[in-house]
Amino acid sequence: MLRKLFKRDTSSTITIDEHNVPRHVAIIMDGNGRWAKRRGMPRSMGHRAGADVLKEIVIAADEIGVSALTVYGFSTENWKRSAEEVGALMKLFRFYMKRLLKIAAEKNVRVKMIGDKRRFDADIIEGIDKLVETTKDNTGMTFTIAINYGGRDEIRRAVQKMLKEYRESPYDVEGVTEQFVADHLDTAGLPDPDLLIRTSGELRLSNYLLWQLAYSEIYVTDVLWPDFDEEELQNAIAAYNKRERRFGGR
Ligand code: IPE
Ligand code: IPE
Ligand code: MG
Repeated sequence: MLRKLFKRDTSSTITIDEHNVPRHVAIIMDGNGRWAKRRGMPRSMGHRAGADVLKEIVIAADEIGVSALTVYGFSTENWKRSAEEVGALMKLFRFYMKRLLKIAAEKNVRVKMIGDKRRFDADIIEGIDKLVETTKDNTGMTFTIAINYGGRDEIRRAVQKMLKEYRESPYDVEGVTEQFVADHLDTAGLPDPDLLIRTSGELRLSNYLLWQLAYSEIYVTDVLWPDFDEEELQNAIAAYNKRERRFGGR
């Protein structure tokens, strides 16, 4: 069944096929800095605006019927930024985690975190644990935030886990299947993303979900993340609806 969604500011419509909504959507939320720069504001203001948009997108994705949403919030490479910018982002995480508790309760959303949280301050780690623990039995959309996340680092940590397990109780190495590897990644239990959205035009993965994106459809928009809204999400899903996925078959 096709659902016509009316754009807010025009009478034109975006058509989404309700039977072909991507089960798992991954987003690289890029462009906060450029958004702020264009307005003559500090980069931190762009991050704040970006965090506000994220709330809207979580709710919109849930309403469209997406069952898993995974967003890139902070990469293992983002520590290279100035202490001022990293500090502003940490402050934002603290604030946003509290807000997320409320949204998750209202929307029955299960929150997960991927990435190596050990590098964060103790109170942030505590906040993450509380959020994950409090929402773990929610039965709605799974919302995953990737922070201090890098695809290569995730694979490295997975190898480490597998080697440690092997040391403790050796197993048949021939039995190492793709599923076995996937089960050791931070995303264990989540289906692979069907759709990857990257905002602000960059045509690269920037170390995001390297294993999981193997067959995802990619949608890149020039819209900067703080300008991304429900309608842009609908546009991305409508574009996804037109794709023919072949998975290597004919
Ligand atoms: C994305 O926006 C947010 C993070 C990486 C934390 P950027 O800060 O990368 O914005 P641009 O790419 O500089 O515009
Ligand atoms: C990717 O964006 C990371 C996040 C959105 C959190 P970056 O802005 O860090 O990526 P590059 O540096 O343009 O590749
Ligand atoms: Mg960027």
